[in-house]
Amino acid sequence: MKEKILLTAEEIEARVGQLAEQITEDFKNEEVILIPLLRGGFIFAADLCRKLPMPVVLDFITTSSYGSGKASSGEVKLIQDLREDITDKNVLIVDDICDSGHTLKSIRDLLHSRGPRSLKTCVILDKKERREVEITPDYIGFSIPDVFIVGYGLNYGRLHRNKPYIYTYIE
Ligand code: IMP
Ligand code: MG
Repeated sequence: MKEKILLTAEEIEARVGQLAEQITEDFKNEEVILIPLLRGGFIFAADLCRKLPMPVVLDFITTSSYGSGKASSGEVKLIQDLREDITDKNVLIVDDICDSGHTLKSIRDLLHSRGPRSLKTCVILDKKERREVEITPDYIGFSIPDVFIVGYGLNYGRLHRNKPYIYTYIE
């Protein structure tokens, strides 16, 4: 397997800092429920939440749309739901990547139906040209071309999530 680094750990850290500043400004000092989508969103969310100064409540949603391949099935399965009641709360959904958009859109629609006060979405990566449904994340770390990448939470099969940088995966 060959690796080509697309984003180094230093580049990612700097960008997460900028996103945190933007989120801090937008949310004022109001409490936010931060919702990483598992499993892919956990590393980014862990870095991001430690840079936020406002009161943060963490809860998690587990989704699955991929099986073991490289393309989304388009059908988003809810594997595990929230424990928090988000009615009238500020909610920020955090995921690794917005690709076809199915995952983020279906979870955003689901949470919207529960009556949050505000609902925003945040991803570290955006592959806009692959979008199949209409969604633009409110906060985007990096817009990237249509290449399959891993690391920093992103997987292929069951591996690669733990790497601190983002790289193209070529078998
Ligand atoms: P969606 O196609 O926008 O629904 O993305 C669903 C999920 O696919 C993401 O949360 C990622 O876990 C995964 N995914 C999309 N693109 C890539 C990639 O390039 N590498 C690894 N995982 C990906
Ligand atoms: Mg994945």
